[in-house]
Amino acid sequence: MRIETSVTRLLGIDLPILLAGMSWVTSNAALPLAVSRAGGLGVIAAGPMYPEALEEAIDTVRRGTDRPFAVNMPLYRKGAEEILDLLEAKRIPVLIASQGGPQKYLDRFKAIGTTCMHVVASEAHAVKAAQKGVDGLIVVGGEAGGHPPAELVSTLVLVRAVAKATQGKIPLVASGGFADGNGLAAALSLGAGAANFGTRFIATPEAGVSEGYKQAVIDAGVADTRTVGRGLGMIRTLSNDFAEEMAALELAAAPEERRRAVFSASTLKMAAFDGDLARGKLEAGQSAGLVGRLMPAGEIVAEIARDYAVCIGDLPQPAE
Ligand SMILES: Cc1cc2nc3c(=O)[nH]c(=O)nc-3n(C[C@H](O)[C@H](O)[C@H](O)COP(=O)(O)O)c2cc1C
Repeated sequence: MRIETSVTRLLGIDLPILLAGMSWVTSNAALPLAVSRAGGLGVIAAGPMYPEALEEAIDTVRRGTDRPFAVNMPLYRKGAEEILDLLEAKRIPVLIASQGGPQKYLDRFKAIGTTCMHVVASEAHAVKAAQKGVDGLIVVGGEAGGHPPAELVSTLVLVRAVAKATQGKIPLVASGGFADGNGLAAALSLGAGAANFGTRFIATPEAGVSEGYKQAVIDAGVADTRTVGRGLGMIRTLSNDFAEEMAALELAAAPEERRRAVFSASTLKMAAFDGDLARGKLEAGQSAGLVGRLMPAGEIVAEIARDYAVCIGDLPQPAE
């Protein structure tokens, strides 16, 4: 099946389905490879990866498919310059940069033909990044797992606002809250050319996180996430001992040093790698409540596309 949009044309993919770059979850070859092979865009999350592991993952994806894939690069990460040099040397087809401004990478990657997408979480940043000349924007709304926008503006409102502000001049990917074909239909109706799927792909055999983390996503309901760490790099995470402690400190307006101490004692790695479900950062979006079971990533892509077709076929048509 093919569903053609501004984003599939930009990226050279069959389906407007992107695997969201997620530290640990997609910091491997298996998950991005499965998504790219199925016709979406697989994304390797470089955030926590050593250069050697990243290079190996890029090579493995390339050996496994000749379809496009991307690397997600948080520009604030330690050793960012070295990683950017590596990505340039590997001439990756698509770069998805988050945090920081496009001037840090744009000219050098455009010069080698890499498609440059930038992650934004506000209208102002979207307009600025578009003016700087990035090829596409990933617009992250408040439902998202990981780092949602500070004011938690919902994806429904933010994507629409960015679509109006950018007037169809740049392809948009909607991110945050999408889990199935109905979600994809919603994203395209808002003016995006694709949806980014994060939390949905945590519940896959290919995801690089502990089995307990995957099960916690499957078990969660739509109201089981919390946003904690306001002012400290806020995250949306599943409720657990860590999140409850942070929420209680925030409610009590505890001093910043105390909140920072608790916030930084917990990491995503603890949940993802060590399987510490009580004290780790179990980052996930509200869409966890829409995830019902573990499924291979390629099957998820195919199911989203099929359900999208059914969904748009079922939409009521206006009559005179
Ligand atoms: C566990 C986890 C890790 C994430 N890591 C990153 C990251 O390294 N870089 C990034 O740009 N976004 C990251 N995100 C945000 C996702 O790219 C995406 O915006 C979000 O998952 C979309 O919302 P959804 O989970 O409802 O699909 C992460 C999200 C999660 C859930």
